[in-house]
Amino acid sequence: EKAGFDHFMLKEIYEQPKAYRETMLGRISEDGKSVQLKEIGMTVEQLKAIRKIHIVACGTAYHAGLVGKTVIEQLARIPVETDVASEYRYRNPIITEDTLVIVVSQSGETADTLAALREAKRCGARVWAITNVVGSSVAREADDVVTTWAGPEIAVASTKAYSSQLIAFYMVGLYLAQSLETRDQAFISSIAQEMLTLPEKVETLLEQAQTVKQIAESIAKHSNLFFIGRGLDFAVAQEGSLKLKEISYIHSEAYAAGELKHGTLALIEEGTPVIALVTQEELYEKTLSNIKEVKARGAHVLGVTNNSNEGEVAKSVDELFAIPNTLPLLTPALSVIPLQLLSYYASLALGHDVDKPRNLAKSVTVE
Ligand code: F6R
Repeated sequence: EKAGFDHFMLKEIYEQPKAYRETMLGRISEDGKSVQLKEIGMTVEQLKAIRKIHIVACGTAYHAGLVGKTVIEQLARIPVETDVASEYRYRNPIITEDTLVIVVSQSGETADTLAALREAKRCGARVWAITNVVGSSVAREADDVVTTWAGPEIAVASTKAYSSQLIAFYMVGLYLAQSLETRDQAFISSIAQEMLTLPEKVETLLEQAQTVKQIAESIAKHSNLFFIGRGLDFAVAQEGSLKLKEISYIHSEAYAAGELKHGTLALIEEGTPVIALVTQEELYEKTLSNIKEVKARGAHVLGVTNNSNEGEVAKSVDELFAIPNTLPLLTPALSVIPLQLLSYYASLALGHDVDKPRNLAKSVTVE
């Protein structure tokens, strides 16, 4: 059932091109010119009444929600807050009838996420669910359900479910932009068309798995490292760090690149690995200067950037991994792939149980 792969996690990493295609199927037309989300049963009038959006989830799904915030704010210009579900209910959130709450859950059974959904409904909010399990508790109780068609995810560490959640957020962002007319159709089509190229770009990335494996084997010798990035790169850095901790048990922290100098820089020593994501053109120069700061303290820097920036970034880092070019907004759907492979191969090098890491369960049904 692992279809020739050594672990479910690796199989699921390789299933991502298919998961992307299925999650876009029927939602983006074949020519990429039109976008629809038939499962949302709201009128344009109702959509126009949304004043704010709360995204609520746990763990990896929360990290997808961090990307979702930027995507929705950029495309639909509605203010979005993203919360961890176990915190949301206890901070007395301001949930009103003009709030849209989007819960994100691969399993659809996570206790805290389900409790947040119920609280949101009690307060009169409309609730959408992004979930991978049709008929799950979250899917049954939400008003509208955007299914991620990633297929069953067996490995405890989430990979294809996370990246399919990103695709679902792009769909939500485009759908809202179209319905609210915050963006013109040509702009929406240009993003949708680029999305259709993502599966092939993921395939290109997967062909470079051996390069990532070598980097992972050297990282596995360390007990402490950092992921840094700005904007969407910071969101992906947080997911990369969680993945690494979860299955390799190597301690890491994800930091907004500009925050390092406010304390964390003290932890950088000679040889400390720093994985720097540098994919967002507007923030590019700023992150490069943060890379210089860590290099000056002895860090060993692995840069992750787009093909088109490769030459420039190569000058500032010790090692470089380049991902195919795409729109800045869509980059997380590519940049997370090498980070997944990195944690997989680090765990493998250390001889851990990749699919069943210690202390963790696939579905967390207690609060
Ligand atoms: C990490 C991981 C967890 C889950 C979290 C939420 O790889 O899988 O962090 O993302 O427990 O689970 P779901 O999405 O099922 O609500």
